[in-house]
Formats: sequence, structure tokens, C-alpha cells
Amino acid sequence: TRSYRVAVVPGDGIGKEVVPEGVRVLEKIAKRHGFTLKLDWYDFSSCDYYLKHGRMMPEDWKEQIGGHDAIFFGAVGWPARVPDHVSLWGSLLLFRRDFDQYVNLRPVKLLPGVPCPLAGRKPGDIDFMVVRENTEGEYSSIGGKMFPGTAREFVVQETVMTRVGIDRVLKYAFELAQRRPKRHLTSATKSNGISITMPYWDERVEEMSKGYPDVRWDKYHIDILTANFVLHPDWFDVVVGSNLFGDILSDLGPACAGTIGIAAAANINPERNYPSVFEPVHGSAPDIAGQGIANPIGQIWSGAMMLDHLGEHEAAGAILTAIERVLAEKTLRTRDLGGNADTVACGKAIAEMI
Ligand code: NAD
Ligand code: IPM
Ligand code: MN
Repeated sequence: TRSYRVAVVPGDGIGKEVVPEGVRVLEKIAKRHGFTLKLDWYDFSSCDYYLKHGRMMPEDWKEQIGGHDAIFFGAVGWPARVPDHVSLWGSLLLFRRDFDQYVNLRPVKLLPGVPCPLAGRKPGDIDFMVVRENTEGEYSSIGGKMFPGTAREFVVQETVMTRVGIDRVLKYAFELAQRRPKRHLTSATKSNGISITMPYWDERVEEMSKGYPDVRWDKYHIDILTANFVLHPDWFDVVVGSNLFGDILSDLGPACAGTIGIAAAANINPERNYPSVFEPVHGSAPDIAGQGIANPIGQIWSGAMMLDHLGEHEAAGAILTAIERVLAEKTLRTRDLGGNADTVACGKAIAEMI
């Protein structure tokens, strides 16, 4: 039978609450669809691990999880105990870079039954994909603090955009657009103000588009693009952006479609030289952690994206169907969606639908 080795990394906060629900659903679907998941659990990539060991991950973390077929990740961060840039640059951001996961794919979809904060929108009006560059751009470690502690103190952080880095994520985005019925791509830019890197981004989009004459494309400056997400979400199909713009758009999009609690993400290395990481868009939510009320759907949907990546397309589709059925039922929804189900009840309901 088909068998996959998956590294399970719950991380911090609600990561530890929603990952078990994701696993519950994955185990059920594997049984139904006749494949085996071999799960290895890891406690590193968490602030608890940091407080015990003085680092976020063991030295040999790449050997430990680099041979798996995929990594199923929760969330990391506990800013009251460990500064965010320390915890994130010691874990998740290393996965993305060292495993060359240069595509961060984040679906935005208004599902039936989900209360939409935008007036008059119904399912079908909001259905697009954010493709976020995931290894360079504004997230660079080039820079530093000069003259610390003096009146002349200043900080600099460079944005890095490489031709290879931009082109490969654009190629992924254009090919994705080609496979979707609307065949439309929108590029996020800011070439009016950010006068070197962003015009270069635009130039690469223009050049790349020539290879995809069947894809209609446009571009918007990030400021008006955020407004258009709210006012005209129906305009979008595939939206591609740099690391920072993609980050912002992929919280805004899901908020427009109801809640960030259901937003899923796939950090993909398309060449499959390394495992890809599947995790919800949201973080560890310290404000609600430990209460058992987090929405597990972002994690469960990320599990479906993982199965898609592993080639189990039918199983992935079946998870989405189960999610939609549970969302249609108000009593099975978590609080962020106006229901009163807790994390476990929502996870169990989805597993039972399968
Ligand atoms: P967050 O996504 O953790 O939380 C933002 C708000 O959304 C909070 O009010 C939270 O309660 C709510 N929320 C998030 N997920 C939810 C869910 N599943 N169900 C219901 N409500 C949910 O963002 P933040 O507060 O900016 O960050 C908290 C910590 O998480 C920080 O340490 C941050 O760096 C980290 N973070 C990690 C990741 C990741 O691991 N991928 C992503 C984002 C933030
Ligand atoms: C995300 C998160 C991370 C990011 C943070 C926690 C570093 O917000 O995955 O969207 O900015 O990429
Ligand atoms: Mn984010």
C-alpha cells in the first residue's frame, strides 16, 4: 500500500491544540482511502524547547526531519518568553530557507455557511490563491545596527530580490493561473515608492507574462490592492506577491472570507529536493491558548494541502467536503465563527463526516 512518512511538529500555543485535530482527520482519511501515514512527532521548534535547551531546534534538525515526505507544522512563537525574531528565525524561517520552500501557497475561499464580514458576498464571490515568495525579499538578514547606544544610532535592513528567486515563484504562479478556469493573475507591487526592487519585480512579471499568453494579468500597488481585496474580492484569481506583501495579503484575504482560523498554507519546494511544510496561516495565538477554543480548520485544511502534494488528491478533496459540511452546521463551528463548539468537538465532527 501507499505509505508516507510525515514529521509532526506542533510548536507553541494553539499549535499544540490544533495539530492533534489535524492528525485525527489525517488518520481517518488514510484509513478510508487505503494509504498509510507514518507519523514522527517532534517537540522542537517551540519556545518550551528553547527555554530548556537555549536554542529552538537541535543541531541535527535537518537530519531528523529532512528525510520525511512532508512536515505537518502547527505554529511557533511565545513573545512573552522568547522574542519573536529569535523563535521564528530559529525555526519556521529556517525550514522555508534551508528546505528551499520558495512558494507559499495560501487559498482564500468563502465557504458556504461561513459568516462573511463583507456585505452582500456569497460563496463563489471570493475564491482565489495567494502565491507568496517565501525565501527572500523583505525577509533578509542583511543589515544591522550602527553606533548602538549613541545619538547616531541607526538600523538598516536590505531587501534582496534575485532574478532566479522572482522568476521561479512567478513561473509557479503563472502555471497555477493556467490551470484555473479564470486564468487571471494579479501582481502586488509598490514600484511608485520602492524605487529599485519593486520596478525590478514589475519588469520580471512583464517578461514572464510573455510565456503565458493565455493568462490575463494585471498589477496593483499594495495599498490599493488591500482596498480592492475588501471592495472587489471577486476580481482575484491568483495573486502573487513578494514575501512581505504576500504575508499581509494572506491574513487580509482570509479575514475577508470570514476568519483567519480556517486559513491554510503550503510552503512548497516544487522540485521536491526537500520536504514541504504544511501549516495554518495563523500563529500560536497566546491570547486564547490553553482554553481549547481555537478553530482547528486551518490546520485540518493544511493537512488536505499536504495530501494534495503527496498525490492523494481524492483524499484531499474529501477533507474539504467534510470541512464544508461541518461549517454549514452552526453548532459545530468554533467561536470565531459565531458557534460554541470547542477545538476537539469541531475536529471530531470533521473526522466523523469522512
Ligand atoms: P495569531 O495568528 O497567533 O493571532 C491573531 C489573532 O487571531 C488572535 O486574537 C488569535 O486568538 C486569533 N486566532 C489565530 N488563530 C486562531 C484560530 N485557529 N482560532 C481562533 N482564533 C484564532 O497572530 P499574532 O497574535 O500576531 O502572533 C502570535 C504569535 O504567533 C507570535 O509569536 C507570532 O510571531 C507567531 N506567529 C507564528 C506563525 C507561524 O508559526 N506560522 C504565524 C503567525 C504568527
Ligand atoms: C506567516 C507568519 C510568519 C511570516 C512570521 C511568524 C515570521 O506571519 O507564516 O505568515 O511572516 O512569514
Ligand atoms: Mn503571516
